[in-house]
Formats: sequence, structure tokens, C-alpha cells
Amino acid sequence: MHDLKRATPWTAARGAVGKAALYDELAGELDGLLSGEPDPVANAANAAAAIYHALPELNWAGFYFLRGEELVLGPFQGRPACVRIPIGKGVCGTAALHRRSVLVPDVEAFPGHIACDTASRSELVVPLLAGDALLGVLDLDSPMLGRFDEVDREGCERLVGVIVRHLGGIA
Ligand code: SME
Repeated sequence: MHDLKRATPWTAARGAVGKAALYDELAGELDGLLSGEPDPVANAANAAAAIYHALPELNWAGFYFLRGEELVLGPFQGRPACVRIPIGKGVCGTAALHRRSVLVPDVEAFPGHIACDTASRSELVVPLLAGDALLGVLDLDSPMLGRFDEVDREGCERLVGVIVRHLGGIA
């Protein structure tokens, strides 16, 4: 996990504009990292690792992929997690059901939140959409309350746009 005391450009000191610019940078880096490799598992694994190490104050970053009526754990960084999440359950299943990002500032205030790592305090889940097809979700957890804001949501949606282009064949 990242050092919580480390000063980061993601904090209020740099402001929202700096954070948005960093997501732009990371989107470009991810595109470079994943380009040229057709294997979706390899690309999901590298994307999870890149995000986990690039974004501060995360204790979990990874994917769940749609398999029938449930989400099944994919490549991730962090502690071992619950493997299967029914559509509509938890933060991940809610994002998958509504095909919309779900930003949870305080996981204890989200009814039905599934606690995989008791350290998690806030969460952001972004659906992986390839046109009309739902491939799964990207899930980010933080040990900080209120770690994610609208700039993070927009930034992660941009990252997911890049990632989905490199997940051909995962569904
Ligand atoms: N908290 C998630 C479960 C997945 S873990 O956080 C890795 C949820 O409520 O769907």
C-alpha cells in the first residue's frame, strides 16, 4: 500500500486541475503499457498494477468480469478478495446493474457494501463498457474516508476507456 504520509499531487494542495491533468498523463501511459499486447488477462493485470502504484492511498485496485449473472474476480493488487458478486449486490454489483460509476465516500454508509478488506473506508467502481456490452467493473478501494471525488470518477472513467480498448476477447 502507498505511504499515507507521502505528499502527493493528488491532495488539495495541487487542486482539482492538477489531479485531472495527472489522469490525462496516466491514461497516456496506460495506453503505451497495454498497446501491442492482445492478451486481455495480461493487460488487465498490468492495468491493475499500474493504477495501484500510480494512485495514492489505495489498498485495493482491480477488476471483476461479468460471467453470466455475476461478477467474478479478475486481476488485482491488494489483499485477497471475494470472488463472486451477484449483479445488483454491493458497490460493484450496483455499478454493473446500472452501468454507471458509483462513488462511495464512506463504505459504512452504503447499504449492502461487501467488505473484502476491513481497511477499506471509501470506494469507486467504474463499469467496463464496450459499446452496449458490459464486460465487468474496475474497483478501487481506499483506507481513507472520502478518498475519491468527481475528478477521480471522471479520471477513472477515462482510464477505463483506454483499458477497454485493450481487453478484446475478455467477455
Ligand atoms: N466492496 C466491494 C467488493 C469488492 S472488494 O472491495 C475488492 C463491493 O461492495 O462490491
